[in-house]
Amino acid sequence: MAFKQILIENLKSKIDEDKLHFLPSGFQRIGDIIVLNLNKEVLKYKKEIGKIVLNNFKVRSVCLKEGGITGTFREPQISVIAGDKCTVVTHFENGCYYNLDIKKIMFAKGNLSERVRIAKQVRHDEIIVDMFAGLGYFSVPIAKLGKPKKIYAIELNPVSFKFLKENLSLNKIEGIVEAINGDSKEEVLKLVENGVKADRVLMGYLPPPKEFLPYAMKIIKKKGFLHYEDLIRTEYVDEDVGKAMKLISDAAAAEGLKVKLLLAKRVKGYAPKIEHYVLDIAVF
Ligand SMILES: C[S@@+](CC[C@H](N)C(=O)[O-])C[C@H]1O[C@@H](n2cnc3c(N)ncnc32)[C@H](O)[C@@H]1O
Repeated sequence: MAFKQILIENLKSKIDEDKLHFLPSGFQRIGDIIVLNLNKEVLKYKKEIGKIVLNNFKVRSVCLKEGGITGTFREPQISVIAGDKCTVVTHFENGCYYNLDIKKIMFAKGNLSERVRIAKQVRHDEIIVDMFAGLGYFSVPIAKLGKPKKIYAIELNPVSFKFLKENLSLNKIEGIVEAINGDSKEEVLKLVENGVKADRVLMGYLPPPKEFLPYAMKIIKKKGFLHYEDLIRTEYVDEDVGKAMKLISDAAAAEGLKVKLLLAKRVKGYAPKIEHYVLDIAVF
């Protein structure tokens, strides 16, 4: 039976009939936890909804998304509405394990295919700098699915960093990925001072990390690749991608480099009429 139908069957005697169509038709599953988005019309029934989901699916807890992802650390707003109060999970996806606390760290299922797409582009023996590593969203699949020589995974948030370290050992990739706890502007400069040059730089952060572009360009090799995330207006894709490319090419020129857009790919919707995009860029 479809998810919404299960909720309707169990709730039709308890909630007003005109509210039934506001019940959710799907959910996000991270590890053994289900995360729901509830319309405000049915929010007051959240405990009942949580119990029904817990009883009908083999999960440990049911959580509610209370708001968007916020702040520098891109933290979610999530509460437990049924089951175990512990929100630390191990999520398995595309051959990779990710430990995380879903209450403290974001995990965007909408970025799933993106994580694999980038990993597949990596060639043998590449040196990679992941400037916003989080718990290893990109560094883990690249190290597991590709054959890079070395990944420098930089993460500012100590909570995410702790999970990043755990995930390297969980996936047995500590030998390939070096986790660095710090601000990627400063950490990139330190790597440059130590003679590190990258074949590929990942800038997986929203809102777009424009002010980090000069640092990416300091560490990227001539004939390297950059993956830059951006927010693009649905109705002005060409114009907004053009603006992003102007910023990127200015940052490149300051280091004597040129850039070429290889692909502008929509990852997912971000807000009404605003899309999350990734730009694949060749640097030469
Ligand atoms: C949440 S991730 C981006 C998500 C990712 N694109 C995905 O696939 O889901 C961004 C990370 O950058 C980290 N961060 C923010 N500012 C930073 C900085 N200056 N240096 C290093 N990491 C930073 C945040 O703590 C966060 O963990």
